[in-house]
Amino acid sequence: MTTATPEPRALLLSGSPRSGGNPDTTLARIATVLSERDIPTTTVRLCDIELNPCTGCELCRASGTCSRFDDDMTALYPEIERCAGLVLASPTYNYTVTPQVKSFIDRLYPYFEFTEPRPGPYKARLAGQGRQLLPIGICEQNEASEMRYTIPVMRDALEVVGYEIVTELALTGHFYRGTVAADQTAMARIQAAAEELADAITPPA
Ligand SMILES: Cc1cc2nc3c(=O)[nH]c(=O)nc-3n(C[C@H](O)[C@H](O)[C@H](O)COP(=O)(O)O)c2cc1C
Repeated sequence: MTTATPEPRALLLSGSPRSGGNPDTTLARIATVLSERDIPTTTVRLCDIELNPCTGCELCRASGTCSRFDDDMTALYPEIERCAGLVLASPTYNYTVTPQVKSFIDRLYPYFEFTEPRPGPYKARLAGQGRQLLPIGICEQNEASEMRYTIPVMRDALEVVGYEIVTELALTGHFYRGTVAADQTAMARIQAAAEELADAITPPA
């Protein structure tokens, strides 16, 4: 896997099993805002691709990429590498991210370089390249505390993979499909977060 300087474009990943649900609605708005800033986006619903969970086989230690599975992550790795922006949106399922989001995060394991013997120091090949993450959690209950680990799981794991956290969004009080679209306060926060991401991945004039 090459990890050259990324381009000002964004990969938007929805971790929701429900098509047209609140994360999908949120990402559609972010795609519109970024496109108005001439930033190309690719949106992927993690439930719609073949995404096997990491098995810890450690084959990637020698090969530098995932050699255990030839699934849709094979095509997603180059997209991850060329996009300076990553938006990861998960509904809260039992206080945390969906299994699809967790599988995606675990499949970033090939980007780590470990020193032997283990445990010992390690580093991430995506680090220091200005990569920006916008993690988004969406839950039914009104209190952000009901979301519990949803955002920290994405934020902390992606930070160690090499992303800077541009900002984070906890969108609460959304149960029915796509209701976030009618929540003007949430939509304003989504727009502001998308603008922050755009600013962070756009090279200075
Ligand atoms: C299995 C499951 C577990 C859930 N756990 C929580 C939870 O712990 N806290 C919460 O506030 N909402 C929880 N919810 C509600 C979802 O987070 C909420 O409905 C969200 O908007 C769903 O996103 P979607 O529109 O993409 O389906 C849960 C929903 C499901 C299906």
